[in-house]
Amino acid sequence: YTIGPLLHEGKAKRVYRTDRPDLVAVEYKDDATAFNALKKAQLEGKGPLNCRISALVFEWLASRDIPTHYLGLAEGEASRRWMLVRPVEIIPIEVVIRNLAAGSLCQQLPVASGTRLPSPLLDLYYKDDALGDPLLTDARLALLGILDTDLRDRLEQLARQVNAALLELFGRIDLELVDFKIELGLTADQQLVVADEISPDTCRLWDRATDDLQDRILDKDRFRQDLGGVVEAYGQVLKRIQGVCPEP
Ligand code: C5P
Repeated sequence: YTIGPLLHEGKAKRVYRTDRPDLVAVEYKDDATAFNALKKAQLEGKGPLNCRISALVFEWLASRDIPTHYLGLAEGEASRRWMLVRPVEIIPIEVVIRNLAAGSLCQQLPVASGTRLPSPLLDLYYKDDALGDPLLTDARLALLGILDTDLRDRLEQLARQVNAALLELFGRIDLELVDFKIELGLTADQQLVVADEISPDTCRLWDRATDDLQDRILDKDRFRQDLGGVVEAYGQVLKRIQGVCPEP
């Protein structure tokens, strides 16, 4: 394959067409953004780390029979930030699953950060930066008419399967999966697959080996809260995942 024209540029990735219709190339950038891109920085090495972490996580999901867009990493030393994926139509919904309370949940409800939720809480948000990714309700979903009940059931079921698989993966490497966001897409043959990325940019991961409320944070909250050591924390996550997953 050869890389073709840019299809889409997001905050952390660029998506390119290739000369093969069944192959899309994703470039993971070093750009870090938070608070809907109000806060921005370049973190050298973040792109390759998220690319490799996402690759291993997608492989883990595949091993648990969860379909994803992931096909492989690009070959070569210069391509450590490139991933090959299946072309999909992204459903403009962010699915967030929370196992422990943190982040926006604690800002919007009287629940203390770190509270274990009685069962995983699934929230849907409308993916639209200009609107600040608003929380959806059943009525708002019906109003938008973007997700019929059948697709919604499949999407929520798939997201809960992802949560179970990720809890198993991160549990094995002593990381608490607090919450995460996924995006789903439909392939040309209408298969629903996990798309986008799964990395410390999109998950909250707390190191169970320490009780220190700051040291334990191994995810994008280090950037959001100016704690420093962002790339080091992501490196720690990759190192631990490599301990249970062989390199792709
Ligand atoms: O912001 P909030 O606390 O609702 O985020 C829940 C989880 O979803 C966090 O792991 C966060 O990193 C992730 N998220 C994301 N992209 C967004 C919003 C949230 O990856 N646009």
